[in-house]
Amino acid sequence: MNHIVEIDSLVKTYGETRACDGVALTVNAGELVALVGPSGSGKSTLLRHLNGLARPDSGSVRVLGVDLATARGRGLRALRRRVGMVFQQFNLIGRLTVLENVLTGALGRDPLPRYGIVTWPKADRAAAIEHLDRVGLADRAYQRADSLSGGQQQRVAIARMLMQRPELVLADEPVASLDPESAAQVMDLLFRICLEDRLTVVCSLHQIDLALAWTRRVVGLRDGRVVLDQPTAALDQERLRRVYVPAAPVAVGAGA
Ligand SMILES: Nc1ncnc2c1ncn2[C@@H]1O[C@H](COP(=O)(O)OP(=O)(O)OP(=O)(O)O)[C@@H](O)[C@H]1O
Ligand SMILES: [Mg+2]
Repeated sequence: MNHIVEIDSLVKTYGETRACDGVALTVNAGELVALVGPSGSGKSTLLRHLNGLARPDSGSVRVLGVDLATARGRGLRALRRRVGMVFQQFNLIGRLTVLENVLTGALGRDPLPRYGIVTWPKADRAAAIEHLDRVGLADRAYQRADSLSGGQQQRVAIARMLMQRPELVLADEPVASLDPESAAQVMDLLFRICLEDRLTVVCSLHQIDLALAWTRRVVGLRDGRVVLDQPTAALDQERLRRVYVPAAPVAVGAGA
């Protein structure tokens, strides 16, 4: 079984809004999937179901073989350790050093609260430095995280996510807060590392050009439904456009 994500008939409503309206989606090991669609189409809600931050009203969500409609407590925490997250707002602890922020990625495995770098096992510290080296920031290890630029902070967040040794990576608009040049750099890094490590990635993106440049499959959402699911290399531009542009209303009582 190499399905990393298996979603079927997922429905999630918030009041009158159907954030997910019968979503079906299967993602295989090693796939790099871009989730695109207009604001409010349900991208974040879908991603939140993949690590149990949201619960389906109905339908099934299986991630890494775990049923997320029913997982609770220890089972849910164990699953979350296997799923790495990259957020739009980086979520670093600004007053801590870059290295300490990366080390917090190991917390899921090692739930002890720790104060100061020396209290971390040597092997963890060495791994953290290695991940920082991979994102090109080993020389910043002892700097405060809030002294870095946005692009650098997101690279630290990627190193922290690697510290977790994830099997699935979820990224919700990971470069939406960055200028175009930093956005391209961060995407390059994220996807190059995920390819090298054969990680499976589901990444929501507003910038279509970035989605096309770095991912292998594009899933388009609209009003909580999957309306497009194609390999990036064979993407139908007209169908992609229709993900964003409302369909013309069907004329009633035609005759004019
Ligand atoms: N916690 C919530 N409470 C109420 N409504 C919500 C909640 N989460 C999402 N929604 C609604 O569900 C719909 C889908 O929202 P979602 O955030 O998933 O869209 P999105 O595609 O991520 O949009 P964006 O591109 O703006 O990030 C929206 O109408 C949103 O207002
Ligand atoms: Mg969103």
